[in-house]
Amino acid sequence: MVVAISCASGRGPIIRRTRRASSGCWTRRERGSRPFSPKSTEFCCYGHFTMKDDRESFIAERAARVEDYRDDGPLQEAAEGFMRESLRARYSYQFDWLGLPIIQYPQDVFALQEIIWTTRPDVIIETGIARGGSLIFSASMLALLDLTDAERAGHAGVPVADRRRVVGIDLDIRAHNRQAVETHPLAGRIEMVEGDSTDPAVLDEVRRSIRSEQRVMVCLDSSHTHDHVVKELDLYAPLVTPGCYCAVFDTVIEEFETAVFPGRPWSQGNNPMTAVRDFLARDSRFEIDASISDKLLLTVARGGFLKRVA
Ligand SMILES: C[S@@+](CC[C@H](N)C(=O)[O-])C[C@H]1O[C@@H](n2cnc3c(N)ncnc32)[C@H](O)[C@@H]1O
Repeated sequence: MVVAISCASGRGPIIRRTRRASSGCWTRRERGSRPFSPKSTEFCCYGHFTMKDDRESFIAERAARVEDYRDDGPLQEAAEGFMRESLRARYSYQFDWLGLPIIQYPQDVFALQEIIWTTRPDVIIETGIARGGSLIFSASMLALLDLTDAERAGHAGVPVADRRRVVGIDLDIRAHNRQAVETHPLAGRIEMVEGDSTDPAVLDEVRRSIRSEQRVMVCLDSSHTHDHVVKELDLYAPLVTPGCYCAVFDTVIEEFETAVFPGRPWSQGNNPMTAVRDFLARDSRFEIDASISDKLLLTVARGGFLKRVA
């Protein structure tokens, strides 16, 4: 099927183009919930004809779209269906980041990228290392921050000496996983601490590796029981710098019946989401940034992106 599209540039005349409606995007536009607008920035970006600076309106359109998502029954149902079936199929185990398995949904990794780029932490503390992919992801993002800082400072891309770092904690760092992390090209940015994340000695070791002026972000992804995550939040969230985030993974457990997570010590009523609610009732320095999971739709961390606001 061929559809006619119009594109209004900032200066020139309205340009008409035709395209074969082979992609889902075009089909969605035709039956989309918003009235079709030939001046839409979303629409014009296909043809690269937009001349005016439309960045503000682009951001506003995105925000409006997230509002629409919240009331979009079919979209919410489709997302819930995908989450249910993909959790059952252990979809989160299927991906690597720069060569090591990262046990996350790609959408959540994208959200972390946006958070890290925007908030520019110096140190990322992660509980739950598993096979090391999330440590490598964080290290790679921090390396990019160092690189871009150096570019901006006119150092021709040579990163500064005092590099940003990741501190990972796991109860059980298996020899092959440790070796995979330690032999990775980004290993120089990574420190691993073996032990229970709620052990005061482990917390002390983590604290010793942070200086007071450094911006800190935290990701909690170890044991997902209520009691454990409450303890982690009480111990690690205070390390987060105002303006930065504490990401709590697997709040999704609260959304599905226990059969979706067979053989686990966590379940509905006993999981990271219940822990987040408990923590937020006692600590007003943090707020759930709902805009993140509401736009992701596919996420294991709905309600788990906590921003430190005070
Ligand atoms: C979901 S995996 C972490 C996945 C990893 N963040 C990633 O994205 O690839 C959970 C990890 O938490 C660790 N773990 C479980 N209980 C823990 C505890 N009490 N303290 C620290 N780590 C723990 C497990 O050994 C396991 O490696």
